[in-house]
Amino acid sequence: MGVFSFRAAGEITFGPGSVDRLGAAIRKAGGKKVLVVVDPGFAKTGPFVKITRSLEKEGLPFVLFDQVEPEPRTVIADRGGETARGEKCDFVLGVGGGSAMDTAKAAAVLATNGGQARDYQGLDKVPRPGLLKGMVPTTAGTGSEVTFTAVFINEEEKKKAGINSPYLYPEMSLLDPELTLSLPPAVTAFTGMDALAHAVESFTSKAAHPLSEMFSLEGIRLIGKSLRRAVEKGSDLEARSDMLLGSLLAGIGLANAGVTAVHSLSYPLGGRFRVPHGVGNGLLLPAVMEFNALFLPEKFARVAEAMGERTEGLSVKNSALLAVESVKRLARDIQVPMHLSHLGIPESAFPGMAEEALKVTRPLENNPRPVSFEDAIQIYRRVF
Ligand SMILES: [Fe+2]
Repeated sequence: MGVFSFRAAGEITFGPGSVDRLGAAIRKAGGKKVLVVVDPGFAKTGPFVKITRSLEKEGLPFVLFDQVEPEPRTVIADRGGETARGEKCDFVLGVGGGSAMDTAKAAAVLATNGGQARDYQGLDKVPRPGLLKGMVPTTAGTGSEVTFTAVFINEEEKKKAGINSPYLYPEMSLLDPELTLSLPPAVTAFTGMDALAHAVESFTSKAAHPLSEMFSLEGIRLIGKSLRRAVEKGSDLEARSDMLLGSLLAGIGLANAGVTAVHSLSYPLGGRFRVPHGVGNGLLLPAVMEFNALFLPEKFARVAEAMGERTEGLSVKNSALLAVESVKRLARDIQVPMHLSHLGIPESAFPGMAEEALKVTRPLENNPRPVSFEDAIQIYRRVF
């Protein structure tokens, strides 16, 4: 075993009804005036009422920034940063899915650092700490509430890239499964597949270590157990709790061990074709697992077990292949898109996509099996 380090973000509060404590948690973290970053239309929802009630109970003034967009462009983060600075907020609260949380994280560092979000895409390019920030996920997917990454589309370059900096770690996160009860089945399905991708990829990453593996493996177990149920019966609080906890654990796994080729290969789908992050990852996860499984059979056999498959009496190799089947079956059952052609992506785009995916080098370096340009094309073809 080599040297490893482990980090988890700020204070994490979890549980049904915990949104009541949000105002107090922000106060405790040091926030006095809050910029609330949400999707347009979120202000009309039940969860928003609960959130503002909790802030008001604590006497915390807040300003609403509701210009978040799906697969956000860097300019949206710039506007968030300007609003935080202009309104003299000292705390940025991201409420929603990955887009809202990523926008909040970037706005917090832009407010203190100036410049534009695109200046900071890459690794460790943010010079100074940002404003305090807290995250309230309303999907069980990205794990952005515990990671140091915020992903944006750079419009000029039509490229999707992350701002990766320790200054992006939130000071606090609050996860209330009741806020996820009204998520529609399709969103539950593809955000859940993103969370499963984080768990499987971080578990099988070359950078995985004993501490990160605990989180990743338990994430796989919880998601494997409850994703079908959460899609079929959205009002099932136990399934929703498993999913939110599972995506949190997967997020901690990912923050410490990284992701692998699934995320690299799905970046161009978002950057070029605006395919939602979870849809792209859900589609590519089984194919990349198939590509990797026999390069790391012991680990993939453990993935099969964590997915709830019976592996007694099976060889390690067959257990590893069972993990691939298990995830494929799950994806089919919850009806995530399984083909690039169904998303309107033509085969002629593959060489450009592969070239771009190979530039997303960090996850590729973590992949248990080297991925060549030809391999990337083959994987796209397999899911065409
Ligand atoms: Fe992801």
